[in-house]
Amino acid sequence: MTAVAGSPPRPHTTPYPDVLGAAGNTPLIRINRVTEGIRTPVYGKAEFMNPGGSVKDRIGAAIIEAAEARGELRPGGIVVEGTSGNTGVGLAIAAAIKGYRCIFTIPDKMSVEKVRLLEAFGAEVIITPSEVEPDDPENYVMRAKQIAHDTPNAVLANQFYNAANPEAHYRTTGPELWEQTDGRITHFVAGAGTGGTISGAGRYLKERDPGIRVIGGDPVGSILRSLAETGTPGEGAPYKVEGIGQDKLPSTLDMSVVDEWRSVDDASAFRLARRLTREEGLFVGGSSGLLAHAALEVAREVDDPAACIVFILCDTGERYLSKLYNDDWMRENGFLD
Ligand SMILES: Cc1ncc(COP(=O)(O)O)c(C=O)c1O
Repeated sequence: MTAVAGSPPRPHTTPYPDVLGAAGNTPLIRINRVTEGIRTPVYGKAEFMNPGGSVKDRIGAAIIEAAEARGELRPGGIVVEGTSGNTGVGLAIAAAIKGYRCIFTIPDKMSVEKVRLLEAFGAEVIITPSEVEPDDPENYVMRAKQIAHDTPNAVLANQFYNAANPEAHYRTTGPELWEQTDGRITHFVAGAGTGGTISGAGRYLKERDPGIRVIGGDPVGSILRSLAETGTPGEGAPYKVEGIGQDKLPSTLDMSVVDEWRSVDDASAFRLARRLTREEGLFVGGSSGLLAHAALEVAREVDDPAACIVFILCDTGERYLSKLYNDDWMRENGFLD
């Protein structure tokens, strides 16, 4: 069976054979308070309500099933991946159901909650240094590649280069957004870690209506905006938001789908994530705050009650209790007064 069972008009009305069927079909929720004074309607796609708490549940089973279909993953097999955490959870859920072992590499900037979570699913987790060049053998993606190569019966999930990733969003996220807005969506705001979400859902939406603007939210320090605007990556720099932004271009990111990139700094992203929790009741992580910030900018500029802006609420805030929901951490990093 597939990871996400299409888009029934009334999801969750019948039992699923296992938890994989409960991924996707997430609600679209109007943003009401942090939009004060803005006339353009803004909605968040609540991906934090997936069984694994993030948008990455959509690709976990899809990637594993594609590897099975290619005959690369067989009973007793091992799934290896470099992950900022959420993809690992999505893969670990599918691996638990299907009986595979998991080995994940994760950069040391990621929250301790994510490491614990992956271990809770029974995965073996290897922590790698964050501040190394993308092609350094110690980089988390490079390290995962090496482990997959050296381990018998192992396959690399390869989310940054695996077409099954954007394909899952083309098949599920895009159609859901189209149906949930009755085709009225005018602007789609998403981040790009692998670019699977923005490329897959963005491509679907543009096929339905080429006038829909696809906007990438990019952390200050990521190279994506510079790459899109000047053709050169520019000087990358470290940033604290997890899961989105890049230091090199993955093949799963189709730049031609994205009309525009907007840069957002860590402080703005984290402060708005905290406001989404306290004022909207949406308990989300820093990347959701970043995308909300970009969506509000667009909404102010568009200034049109007939427009419809949708952004992704990527993952749950529980993953960041030790970080953006910890006042000491926020102060130490200069993100709070
Ligand atoms: C927290 C968070 N937000 C957003 C994304 C971006 O999703 P994608 O890889 O589809 O670009 C990720 C992916 O790693 C993530 O972990």
